[in-house]
Amino acid sequence: MNQMLESNTKDRLQNETIYCQILEYSVETIFLHVDQKILYINQAGADFLKGSKKDIIGANPLCIIPDFYKPKITERIQKAMMAAGPIEVIEQSIARLDGTFVDVEFYCQPVQFGGRKAIQTGLRDITKRKNSERQLNEREKLASIGQMAVGIAHEVKNPLTSVKGFLQLIKETNTHPYLLAMESELEKAIDTLQNLLQVSKPNLYSEPITKIDLCKELSSLIFLFQDKLYNTEIEMDLRNSDKMIIGKKNLFLKAFFNLIKNALEAVPEKGKIRIEHYFRDDCIYVKISDNGIGIPKDKIDFLGTPFYSSKGEGTGLGLTQVFTTVKEYGGTVQVESELGIGTTFLVKLPLHPTSC
Ligand SMILES: Nc1ncnc2c1ncn2[C@@H]1O[C@H](COP(=O)(O)OP(=O)(O)OP(=O)(O)O)[C@@H](O)[C@H]1O
Ligand SMILES: [Mg+2]
Repeated sequence: MNQMLESNTKDRLQNETIYCQILEYSVETIFLHVDQKILYINQAGADFLKGSKKDIIGANPLCIIPDFYKPKITERIQKAMMAAGPIEVIEQSIARLDGTFVDVEFYCQPVQFGGRKAIQTGLRDITKRKNSERQLNEREKLASIGQMAVGIAHEVKNPLTSVKGFLQLIKETNTHPYLLAMESELEKAIDTLQNLLQVSKPNLYSEPITKIDLCKELSSLIFLFQDKLYNTEIEMDLRNSDKMIIGKKNLFLKAFFNLIKNALEAVPEKGKIRIEHYFRDDCIYVKISDNGIGIPKDKIDFLGTPFYSSKGEGTGLGLTQVFTTVKEYGGTVQVESELGIGTTFLVKLPLHPTSC
């Protein structure tokens, strides 16, 4: 009898060792607990919880649960104890041993361990997914504010344009000194609205579509930044000047103006900006690189979204204008950036058919 018991215990211990070895290979956090005591945790789990196995084994599993959620998790552990299989997965924020919080998927299931029923709890890190969900929400919010703003701009611009017309009529018979000031303020307001409309819907902007010699235009554009060029070195490498693109010239000038302006605003004193133009695989490429502050990785997806700006004085419409204009003419914009190193915007545009 004693021999049989001994052999059963030996088998059980052997099975448990194999079971723990399998758990040890998991890349996810897995721990086994019973009666508010952790019996085993795998190495991935100890690393994820920022502690050592020694610190964690023997501790109460609720020690990683923020106080507010403790009753909920206690209830789940009890539920898992009564269940025959895994219970539903929940999302939960937990506190690691170094005090940092992290979002996880939390799943529990009853298992046999140590000769009795215990709970196997698994934690799956969902920080990345949560961050992208947050970013997507923020981006959608910004995009809908942008759409609303464009709608309002459209509605307000028409009556303001009529007011401007009436003001001009009044000016013909009146010389009141305020009339000039009123007219100039009104023009500023109409310009701002026009700008917003142009940025979001470049096809509404009436300008003939022409062949554009980007090499020539980029060379002239630089002169608009004369005042900033004392402190910044601009390197130009403009090749394949015989190749042209097609589009609305002023819109493209504005787009490249916006990209160069951003680069100038990003570089420190004595910073460097490089502008390249070249032809490859039937497309024209314009590359604007700077050695400025760079863009945080989690903000790259925000670029081009109306009103996204990290600058106190920025409107956050510059890149929206760039992205919409380039896209309108079948092009693409690629951004590469590293914090503290610099940023590169690569604009790819289809070639004008007659300059092939
Ligand atoms: N070359 C760059 N280097 C670093 N950050 C950049 C660069 N270009 C754009 N950004 C980031 O993208 C954001 C959006 O740029 P965008 O041109 O749309 O607006 P803005 O420059 O903030 O304002 P505005 O163009 O109206 O003056 C900027 O606020 C900045 O955070
Ligand atoms: Mg800008």
